[in-house]
Amino acid sequence: MRRWLAAVSITMASVLGLAACGGGGAGQATQAPAASGGGKKQVEVFSWWTGPGEADGLQAMRKIFEEKNPDYTFFDAAVAGGSGDKAKALLQSKLQANTPPDTFQGHAGAELQGYIKAGNLEDLTPLYDELKLKDVFPAQLVEQISVDGKIYSVPVNIHRSNVLWFNPGVLKEAGITAAPKTIEEFIADLGKVKAKGKIPLSIGSEWTATHLLESVLLGTLGADAYNALFKPGADWNSPQVTTALNNFAKIMEYAGDPQDDWQPAAKQVADGQAAFNIMGDWAYGYFHNPPQGGLGKKSKTDFDWAPSPGTEGTYLWLSDSFTLPKGAKNRDGALAWLKVAASKEGQDAFNPKKGSIPARKDADQSLYTDYLADALKDWSTNKLAGSIQHGVSVNQPWLAAINEAVGLYIGSKDVKALQQGLADAATANAQ
Ligand code: GAL
Repeated sequence: MRRWLAAVSITMASVLGLAACGGGGAGQATQAPAASGGGKKQVEVFSWWTGPGEADGLQAMRKIFEEKNPDYTFFDAAVAGGSGDKAKALLQSKLQANTPPDTFQGHAGAELQGYIKAGNLEDLTPLYDELKLKDVFPAQLVEQISVDGKIYSVPVNIHRSNVLWFNPGVLKEAGITAAPKTIEEFIADLGKVKAKGKIPLSIGSEWTATHLLESVLLGTLGADAYNALFKPGADWNSPQVTTALNNFAKIMEYAGDPQDDWQPAAKQVADGQAAFNIMGDWAYGYFHNPPQGGLGKKSKTDFDWAPSPGTEGTYLWLSDSFTLPKGAKNRDGALAWLKVAASKEGQDAFNPKKGSIPARKDADQSLYTDYLADALKDWSTNKLAGSIQHGVSVNQPWLAAINEAVGLYIGSKDVKALQQGLADAATANAQ
């Protein structure tokens, strides 16, 4: 419980002006200087990719940007905290103070629609026309980043949220011969691991509980009923949602001590302390990348994967994209960044390290091997459902209300109150 509270107070500290990382740790001013030594103009790129694993992808794209743009320097304004739990609060205060970064990471879908409606973003249709980008991104994805036919961001990837990561050795010890396919099997397996004295399910900071919840909702309800939850008038008080929340409650009983963020929770699986972790496929980059950025673990030996229980055949998706905020100090530099982010070269450097598949349809498929080959295949054949925690299905106020209900549940263990909290969140925010 104390850890959850600590996370909340860090978020507040961020809002009150904690520094961006600047690629080299805390203590730098949140406002990047406009020019660095030698008169080179800086491009302030705001994201939350600081941690082992996810920062590797950003560095790969940065390298290409620097090679192509010798007149600009890259200012890494990333703020630590998985899922942007701290970055997004700080970004909000920067947008309100009219001191936006030159470009910032935002999720395609309801989250981005919020920035568009608030008038924070420039229309990127001219860039799309210049680079013929409408031909290379999936039409459904372009729809998620458009309003009234105008397009507002450049998607760099597709991530999958509903992945069950597991340690094959720990499962074997517990007598589990295959990854659980249903929620019932999953709950039974969690019990078997507990009996062996290992952590059945690892968990990170508070947002990772909402991340788990979205997989359990999807695994219990199925894709169509899950997707229907985000339509106006949807019934969050239904008996089916009650069943899903009871499943969530049972699963949470097997969670280990909450870790500080998603990486230490995922690491418990890779190190053989825990059996299972439900996390997005950024965990693949973390497990697989060589030491320095990642854990250098061996796929199928140290870690393995399956769709989270009950969700096979559905891709619970999300997409990171970069924007051009109105009032960017270095607009040209931001456009130069967006061009790299949009390019095949940029996406093929970024995604294999990030643990995601490219948003572009024409990427070099041979670069996506192992887990990523499975992801590419599933992306092209599965049904789609939009992530809650990562900005597709709900906007930021709605997500904040969901996170609050989940946070209260962690303290109270009151499923009824959780359901009411989720129902109230939908009533107040569904549009
Ligand atoms: C998501 C983001 C991913 C990854 C993850 C964990 O919201 O889309 O790219 O960074 O958070 O931090």
